[in-house]
Amino acid sequence: MIIPGSASQALGAALAAETGRDLAAVSYDRFPDGEGMASVDIDDVSGDRAVVVASTQSDADYVELLQLQDAVREAGVDHVTTVLPYMGYGRQERAFEPGQPVSARAMARAVSTGTDRVVLVNPHEESVTEFFDVPCSVVDAAPTLADPLPSDLTDPLFLSPDAGAIALAESVRDAYGGGDVDYFEKVRHSGTDVDITPSDADVAGRAVVVVDDIVATGSTMSESIGVLTDRDAADVFVACVHPLFARSARTKLERAGVTDIYATDTIERDITAVSVAPVVADAL
Ligand code: R5P
Repeated sequence: MIIPGSASQALGAALAAETGRDLAAVSYDRFPDGEGMASVDIDDVSGDRAVVVASTQSDADYVELLQLQDAVREAGVDHVTTVLPYMGYGRQERAFEPGQPVSARAMARAVSTGTDRVVLVNPHEESVTEFFDVPCSVVDAAPTLADPLPSDLTDPLFLSPDAGAIALAESVRDAYGGGDVDYFEKVRHSGTDVDITPSDADVAGRAVVVVDDIVATGSTMSESIGVLTDRDAADVFVACVHPLFARSARTKLERAGVTDIYATDTIERDITAVSVAPVVADAL
């Protein structure tokens, strides 16, 4: 039985189809005072195992997830697996300044109370798996990002906008079947202000695929795209696992000259091009 969070309904359906499990009827209501009420249809809950699949890009998504976990237990399910396609607060895996919380740890502990195991898709830092009090495994969806790419890229270069995403760029390149890999250096000054120091890669006339785990404000990607178009890249594609696309991110990428954008359904957006359901199904 697949229990979808409200932000992961398409992925929940895809996962049900992929695994042959039932998709539960779920309600997401809200009381007049603002409190949420996520519940499962009791007639739909059968068997002793359930998979709750819920991305948590907002605070409300976390509350909803805790309620769904509790609701399936209340309905008599013994074993709960929680899939976090996108784990919100995953980037605060340490206190960057005195007085700050380790938010990823706080969320992981809360999620652990309602589940027997957790599956994460490309967390920003794999170390967050250690914050859970139950077994936690990681799924790599980066290779799926090669699927929607045009098959005839010109002399392709797979580029990560910072050193932390090189492995993702290599994964996409390997799945694509050929091309070079390079990376830029990034310094972040604030939530929206980043400086990119480009490598000396020759990109003129080439297709460049910029690969990252998350596009949030779009600052990292738009700066990178700007450098590449200034250097006469023939095409600049963006491939990311988690398309947060907060605020004006989409416009920033378009204005910077992106050719096309590819992302997975860990966060369901109109640019979602590929589903992580097959790789998540393999991990269940
Ligand atoms: C950070 O290191 C991540 O890998 C992404 O590069 C970052 O989250 C992107 O954020 P933004 O779109 O706000 O630049």
